[in-house]
Amino acid sequence: MSSQHENWGSRVGLVLAMAGNAVGLGNFLRFPVQAIQNGGGTFIIPYLVCFLLMGIPLLFVEWSMGRFGGRRGHHSTPFILDSMSKFAFWKYIGVFGIFTNLAVAAYYCYLESWALGYVWNSIAGMFSGMSSDQVAGFFSDYTSLNSAEPIIFWVICLALNTWILSRGLSGGVEKVAKVGMPLLIAFGVILAIRGITLKAGHDGAIFSGTAGLNFLWTPNFSTIWEPKVWLAAAGQIFFTLSVGMGSIQCYASYLRSKDDVALNAMSAGWMNEFVEVVLGGAIVIPITVGYFGVDGMIELVNKAGGLGLGFRTLPYLFQQWGPILAVLAGVMWFGLLFFAGITSSLAMGTPIMGFLRDEFGWKRESSAWLFGALILILGLPTVVFFNYGVFDEYDYWAGTVSLVVFALFETILFAWVFGINRGWKEITMGADIKVPVLFKYVIKFVTPVILGAVFIGSLPSIMDTINNTAIHEQLAAATDETTISTLKKTIFFKNISRFALLAMWFSIAVAVAIAYRKRMREGRFTNIEA
Ligand code: ALA
Repeated sequence: MSSQHENWGSRVGLVLAMAGNAVGLGNFLRFPVQAIQNGGGTFIIPYLVCFLLMGIPLLFVEWSMGRFGGRRGHHSTPFILDSMSKFAFWKYIGVFGIFTNLAVAAYYCYLESWALGYVWNSIAGMFSGMSSDQVAGFFSDYTSLNSAEPIIFWVICLALNTWILSRGLSGGVEKVAKVGMPLLIAFGVILAIRGITLKAGHDGAIFSGTAGLNFLWTPNFSTIWEPKVWLAAAGQIFFTLSVGMGSIQCYASYLRSKDDVALNAMSAGWMNEFVEVVLGGAIVIPITVGYFGVDGMIELVNKAGGLGLGFRTLPYLFQQWGPILAVLAGVMWFGLLFFAGITSSLAMGTPIMGFLRDEFGWKRESSAWLFGALILILGLPTVVFFNYGVFDEYDYWAGTVSLVVFALFETILFAWVFGINRGWKEITMGADIKVPVLFKYVIKFVTPVILGAVFIGSLPSIMDTINNTAIHEQLAAATDETTISTLKKTIFFKNISRFALLAMWFSIAVAVAIAYRKRMREGRFTNIEA
């Protein structure tokens, strides 16, 4: 059996840690951009439908799977899934629950380190007096590694994650969540109030912040049936709730056997939605619309990509509020991004640690340091070749496709192999709320069907990505040598990163196979039929 005897220190700590896992950079950077690119108000409808029909059911499924596995001494998905069926196959599906966390952490920690770096630069007054182009240029220099600073902040960030993880759940993760989450919400509320109350004609704003809110909240039904809008909404729900990743199961495996999962899952899930839709929607969009208008904002996003607004545009706009407010806003904005990021990346570290500790008897400290070292190695290509699309490639395969694939399989396992009656008992056991029985049927029929539809609907875009279709089109239209050479390098680095990710997946599968043989030798049979 597992040598781990760890538990969460308190219910508040658990819910804040789980909410911290969910609330991340996705809430403040990814959500607004997805909304902008998918029609503003139109996006919210599929987004909320996906939350109700996939997000909430998957939260119930993953929390209860985690507690079920934890009772049997499993703290990572390969053997949590294994324990729910007699078929050997499922432990290899569980590989996704370690792979995704490592691959996402590999690029996510870099993004998190930008936030830390930008807090420092805001305090140092680096953006003061800069023009809009200069602030954007600062970001380009940063990601092109024109100085050692991004690397220094990245290493600091990895060391911090490692050190906190080495302190354990109640001694590290929970403490960070208890400080980080309230601060994040406080900073978010202040910035959101500022965004909404921005007045046309004041502080250099041309439009009022409420114009941004109107854009976000006015549904435009003409695009509601476009599959791309639904796929984007589903992808955002997965990423923001951290479902289909494996980290929720891991955190939940440290619950006590009779602890509630239903109310806890709802508290963490709804807290995430509040932070995303209410706060995440009231900062970037209203402030940017205030200065550039809706069309100007859409143009900025199309030109500078998803991360553009948060790092290339906002530091410049904050300068319009006067020197003191500019520093305060910079510290609050990038500070909240950093807290959002670190409470999520800590959750990404726990599955590999749980696996090493359960299967190979590693100590908490050494498994935390191995996580740090792995992220350094796996993340290096995303840092060095950022401008050649490696970062985006990791995000696409690990942060998007893997989530849907894993969620689809685990729902089938839970509802059809483990069995929905047994599953429902797990969800409702010790529950502090009455879970509407409707969800039993949603989990059994609706969620797997929608997940399957999302996956099938994504196949054309997956094929386009594999074939690098968009880059080949740009290449065909390109005339100057520099662009052609950059595009060719991009294709090369994207292909290499796909192989690296595949190699990562198979290496974890080999480790799982070795662990399984070890269990057999030691007579540790784990599945429910044994
Ligand atoms: N759920 C995390 C986020 O939204 C990964 O960033």
